[in-house]
Amino acid sequence: MRPRVVDWTLYGLAAIAALTGFGAWLVTDQHSRAILTAHAVAGFALLVPLAWKLRRVRLRLVRLKAWDAKTPISALTTIAALAAIGSGAFWTHAQWPTGYPNGMHIHIVAGLALGGLLGAHVLLRFKRPARHDFSGRRDALRWLGMLGFGAALLPAKEALNRALGLPGAQRRFTGSRHAGSDSGNAFPITNWLFDRPTPIDTSRWRLTVRGATARVLSLSDAELARLPQTSLRATLDCTGGWYSTQTWRGISVGALLDQVGVLPSARFVSFVSVTGYRWSLPIAEARAALLATHVGDEPLDHWHGAPLRLVAPGRRGFMWVKWVREVVVLTQPDLGQWVAIFTSGPDAT
Ligand code: HEM
Ligand code: HEM
Repeated sequence: MRPRVVDWTLYGLAAIAALTGFGAWLVTDQHSRAILTAHAVAGFALLVPLAWKLRRVRLRLVRLKAWDAKTPISALTTIAALAAIGSGAFWTHAQWPTGYPNGMHIHIVAGLALGGLLGAHVLLRFKRPARHDFSGRRDALRWLGMLGFGAALLPAKEALNRALGLPGAQRRFTGSRHAGSDSGNAFPITNWLFDRPTPIDTSRWRLTVRGATARVLSLSDAELARLPQTSLRATLDCTGGWYSTQTWRGISVGALLDQVGVLPSARFVSFVSVTGYRWSLPIAEARAALLATHVGDEPLDHWHGAPLRLVAPGRRGFMWVKWVREVVVLTQPDLGQWVAIFTSGPDAT
């Protein structure tokens, strides 16, 4: 393969790995698991052009005299590529480390670092491939070979997990490791970016239900406690790499919506946190969701979202809004939520 084709193949595979890496956040069932399979195939296939590339440029890399001002970025790109592939593979076997940062955090950071460094490396060393760089069928076969190599590794890795009884054999289809099911509040805590509110004073806090509704409802903590409670068994699967199955107890969103009378034009329901963080669900899905006050037999603690957190079965953890203060019925999808999740923080109300 011509050098420029190797380079752009590296670029293509790294881009697929990065995109499907973030796509992994949308993996909710065995069907969407295909995103992670594509991720793993692209990630491992990357090893092939990487090996060709490093063979080609090894002298530029190991001979310090050959270095120019751009070479440090190339060296760091190489380290980040090996770290991203290595940490991904390691996590799927060892599911370690488990604290903060855990192996998945490390993997995401390595993946992001690769994205940034590779972008810089390409800007510094850009060479446009020409038509004559491609050898047509032969290149196509090589690309197939690379993907085949990536795909062949996956069953072999799972066989290794099973044969050695490695922790990776127990991971969920999202790649997450198990943590503290049915343990009340004793499951891990993950807070989004800057969301660190002070504990909520429930004597002043109210839940408001409004939007495309016949009435507005505003409930104090005491009024909320008098509403009928329901339970829901659901798995919180955090994009930070862990999952926990709990029995959640609280107020059915469907029951709340019935109290305010949803207008026929309603299509989505948005859940807004005291931090300004918000996420929305299609109305039918929102009806089946729960605003939890309890986990197991314990009242939710502050860091798990007291006094109310959304329990949205089948959705990834970052959509399970904590410290909910408003339920807003919408007639349109809420694109602004993609901005709100990056601007939310302790000072918002
Ligand atoms: C994971 C992906 C990549 C890694 C790890 C990597 C690594 C390296 C290393 C270690 C060098 C030698 C040091 C240097 O000359 O600066 C180098 C050189 C170079 N890289 Fe990359 N690279 C990657 C992707 C790319 C891509 C996507 C492009 C362009 C589209 C590219 C274009 C070049 C060019 C033009 C050189 C100069 C040497 C030559 O012409 O062969 N590289 N790369
Ligand atoms: C371009 C950078 C990246 C590369 C090269 C890469 C590569 C890999 C590799 C080789 C694996 C092991 C797959 C397996 O053994 O099944 C893996 C796993 C994983 N990666 Fe990445 N990754 C990158 C970025 C990301 C990002 C940015 C995310 C998330 C935002 C992510 C999420 C995951 C997840 C969830 C797994 C576990 C999959 C499983 O359990 O089967 N990756 N990655």
